[in-house]
Amino acid sequence: MNFSFPTFPEAQSKYAEQVDWLYAYLNAVTFFFTILVTVLIVVFVTKYKRKSQDDRVPWQHEGKWLEITGSVIPFFLAMVMFFWGAKLHFNNRIAPEDAMEILVTGKQWMWKVQHPNGKREINELHVPVNQPIKLTMTSEDVIHSFYIPNLRIKQDVLFGRYTRVWFEADKVGNSHLFCAEFCGTEHSAMVGTVYIMSESDYQAWLTGEGAMAGDSPVEAGEKLFSSLGCIGCHHNGTQPETPALQGPSLVGAFGREEEMNNGEKLIVDEDYLLESIVNPNAKIVKPYRENIMPTFKGQVTETQLMQLIEYIKSLKGGEQTAEQKTGAAGS
Ligand code: CUA
Repeated sequence: MNFSFPTFPEAQSKYAEQVDWLYAYLNAVTFFFTILVTVLIVVFVTKYKRKSQDDRVPWQHEGKWLEITGSVIPFFLAMVMFFWGAKLHFNNRIAPEDAMEILVTGKQWMWKVQHPNGKREINELHVPVNQPIKLTMTSEDVIHSFYIPNLRIKQDVLFGRYTRVWFEADKVGNSHLFCAEFCGTEHSAMVGTVYIMSESDYQAWLTGEGAMAGDSPVEAGEKLFSSLGCIGCHHNGTQPETPALQGPSLVGAFGREEEMNNGEKLIVDEDYLLESIVNPNAKIVKPYRENIMPTFKGQVTETQLMQLIEYIKSLKGGEQTAEQKTGAAGS
């Protein structure tokens, strides 16, 4: 089922069509009541016009059923908007398990994109059609907003935390890519193109020109994990787990519930890992101590932080290294 209206951007996903139907509903309700109110004003003004100087229409004090009708009908119409909108909103935040993760960093004034195999691009996003894509996004400076009109997705991108959005395009073709949050003088130039490609075209693009540009985010993160010295304190499955390691093991840490020194319990997610790298004393896992880990604030870029976090996410237990993981995923 496809809702189309000539002034709308093309809809390149099921979600986009669903958003358009909701939008059509909002418009229909608005249009209906605008017409209704306008017509009633004209009718009443004409019908109940004062006919002469001593025209006295009796005052209406009550209209119980009119009041009830005028409250209940709009209530249900508004509830439809609320639940319909909420359903679409939540669907759009919770990505399917098998979604392919692409990392996006906004900075004044460009979009930087990293694909799972390490391929990078700027102000362009190449994605395969009919494949769920999850975007994990952060900013190097101010608030930006990642907006793809043809997919009807728009998500703010913030400094110091991660935001996520996912989509599954179902039509091959190009779409605009905009920054939808005023972010400085060149905000209007923070634009690009989204290329929705067939699976084979995407694979060709992925392994084509510039494919050897760098390591995958996981591989790059593994190198950083060594070069920054994280490996000296955190078990990653490659070194023996001894009491000499002064930080918590990171094997299987992602997604695990941990108890903090202050008794608080939380699930280890990207934002917790990010905070722990730039501000290690903020929330410390029981029974580890404060002031052991130095801050890496300002010493690593947002891109490197994402790579470190991707590496930690890849440590899923079972003593696997990143090569084994990516090797298994790639075959
Ligand atoms: Cu980035 Cu506007």
